[in-house]
Amino acid sequence: MSTQRSAWLAVVVLILWFPLAAQEAGVARTPPMGWNSWNHFRERVDDRTVRAQAEAMVVSGMKDAGYVYVNIDDTWEGQRDAKGLIQPNQKFPDMKALADYVHGKGLKLGIYSSPAAKTCAGYEGSRGHEEQDAETYANWGVDYLKYDWCQPGGTLREMKAAYGKMQDALKKTGRPMVFSLCQYGWHKVWEWGPSVGGNLWRTTDDIEDQYQAMAEIGFNQNGLERFAGLGHWNDPDMLEVGNGGMNEDEYRTHMSLWAMLAAPLIAGNDLTEMTPYTTAILTNREVIAVDQDPLGQQGSRVSQEGPFEVWAKAMSDGSKVVGLFNRQTTTERMSVNLSQVGIQKQASVRDLWLKQDRGTVEDSFSDFVPGHGVILVRMKQN
Ligand code: GLA
Repeated sequence: MSTQRSAWLAVVVLILWFPLAAQEAGVARTPPMGWNSWNHFRERVDDRTVRAQAEAMVVSGMKDAGYVYVNIDDTWEGQRDAKGLIQPNQKFPDMKALADYVHGKGLKLGIYSSPAAKTCAGYEGSRGHEEQDAETYANWGVDYLKYDWCQPGGTLREMKAAYGKMQDALKKTGRPMVFSLCQYGWHKVWEWGPSVGGNLWRTTDDIEDQYQAMAEIGFNQNGLERFAGLGHWNDPDMLEVGNGGMNEDEYRTHMSLWAMLAAPLIAGNDLTEMTPYTTAILTNREVIAVDQDPLGQQGSRVSQEGPFEVWAKAMSDGSKVVGLFNRQTTTERMSVNLSQVGIQKQASVRDLWLKQDRGTVEDSFSDFVPGHGVILVRMKQN
């Protein structure tokens, strides 16, 4: 190959590689962890609520477990001033002071907008004001932007342009911000999310606090694993753990599945009022370690027989996390052959919810799995 051709080739490789490399080096290297106001508070979110959640994130032990983003979702937006600068509405008297408060707790602040004229809840969107808004967020000290499509339809070209425009505006501020794309998985966003700077992208419609809705979203993520990696993640939506619509087994399934999926762990409950089991589910460090593993490999299904699904996730230390998921309502015995998850003959097994070693197993592992529940284990080749 001529020197000139090799030089051109190097340039092309660099251009293709750079967006991913930049994401790997930047924010959200592992899936972002935090809290968001929408699932529990909807339009009732205000300054006082956000401060209380930040405080509770620290006091509950969630901060120590890795949660850091405190995210305001839709309904904070007020009008634009004469210069076109967005103002918060009366629920948020001083956004900069709020950001300072959140930062003072060692946490980070997230905000929400839309590339449309109006957000999904009918508040002021960013259309035509992208640079101004990005600059305003940076001035306030915002660390995370969820950018929600909020329009019926839209072509692939329009979406890429809209998200690309905000990516450029965010870059121009010079302030690192996590960029969260929310357009419900349309036009296979996982294929182009990284090219418009997305650190995460919603892959589905909105989650609900109900087993069937959660399970349908979670289990349907199978197949998307090759699109996730360091700095760029599939987002099956925020957690419902602790909101009251599912039982303990169902919430453990929710948390286990999201961890297997290397999904963002954005709690969506009221952190100031958690039952001990809600706190225990959200702060289980062995389960969080599955989600946050530095290999950044999203897990996938290894077998399915009707309502019985076995999932596995490769970990950076060579171990495999295996989830036995029972999607029917009665307790059933389930098993997995070690060879199905790439382990030869013998493995030592640790139960991540019981936080107990289960000894050595040979050839296969089996256990009773409660209805709508999960047995989540980490297996290491012996
Ligand atoms: C959409 C999003 C939700 C939430 C609401 C706010 O429905 O998918 O996550 O942000 O808008 O209006």
